[in-house]
Amino acid sequence: MLNLAELDIPIAGVLDEQLEEVAVILERQLASDLSPVNGLCRHVEQYRGKRLRPILVLLSGLATCKVRDGSGLTERHRVLAAVVEMIHMATLVHDDVLDEAQIRRGVVTLNYLRGNESAVMLGDYLISNAFHLCSRLMDPQINLCLGNVTNTLCEGELLQLHHRDDLDIDEATYREIVARKTASLIGECCRLGALVSDAQPAVLDSMYRFGTKLGIAFQIQDDLLDITGDEAVVGKSLHRDLGSGKVTLPLIRYLASADAREATEVRRLFAEGRVEKLRLRLIESGAVQDARREAEQLIEQAKTLLGAVRGDAARELLATLADAVISRRF
Ligand code: FPP
Ligand code: MG
Repeated sequence: MLNLAELDIPIAGVLDEQLEEVAVILERQLASDLSPVNGLCRHVEQYRGKRLRPILVLLSGLATCKVRDGSGLTERHRVLAAVVEMIHMATLVHDDVLDEAQIRRGVVTLNYLRGNESAVMLGDYLISNAFHLCSRLMDPQINLCLGNVTNTLCEGELLQLHHRDDLDIDEATYREIVARKTASLIGECCRLGALVSDAQPAVLDSMYRFGTKLGIAFQIQDDLLDITGDEAVVGKSLHRDLGSGKVTLPLIRYLASADAREATEVRRLFAEGRVEKLRLRLIESGAVQDARREAEQLIEQAKTLLGAVRGDAARELLATLADAVISRRF
């Protein structure tokens, strides 16, 4: 999504080095004395693709700390970055069980390879390790906050399940699902990165709002890629949402503006699981484009919140990252 090595922004190189250290913390935390457990952990470590969440922790930390040259990051930032990545990995492993997905980041999923029992247990192992590692920070505020996030993202998934096959779902409910299942963690990555840098409450608030808007836009783009993307490029099972009863923004927008005949026809296609026809309808009608504009607006709003940030280079990198969230093809 964002190739740090290619960016002509001074701290991009610093960030790349820091991410290497985060990977070492993560690997050490997940080292078990049982080789079968290690084998499963090595498998899901391949899911670490975009590293969006650890990057946001580190960049938010850099953007709000007192020194501006990139030397303000501490071991606490790196541990926090490893914790959020581990929470994210746990949610992906469980999500693939729920979605019966076969491919994630170009790699066969654990549920497909080893079955649901191993995948559910490994997801539990990852979430347990995330909170074990987080306790090393000796900051109950961070533990409480991330506990709240994991509660919230489970609520998002439960609300989504409640609305499976619900073509009458409204946009506010879709946003609630997305805000909880995806944006809650991304918002806290930005806020907690700044908290570890001892930023002022007003800055923490701006970073949280920046991350929340970015997170909602991220999930809208994810849902668009499910309709328009190519599995070989995106690296995960696609064209699944429409066939599994997940109603996302393009379909909600389509039904809100369609005439009675079109709406009845699309409801019938949905009930019959005619995914290809539905995909084309959503693309050709402009509903996909409409949803894309919504994501673009959220990113513009997010970038205006970066005024609270001290470091110019970190702010530029956060803005570049925000743009990449919606221009990404994977
Ligand atoms: C991706 O949605 C899913 C999430 C962002 C959250 C998943 C959360 C859970 C399954 C709860 C697990 C909770 C814990 C604490 C382990 P998606 O299916 O739309 O995205 P995808 O296309 O990447 O699969
Ligand atoms: Mg999924």
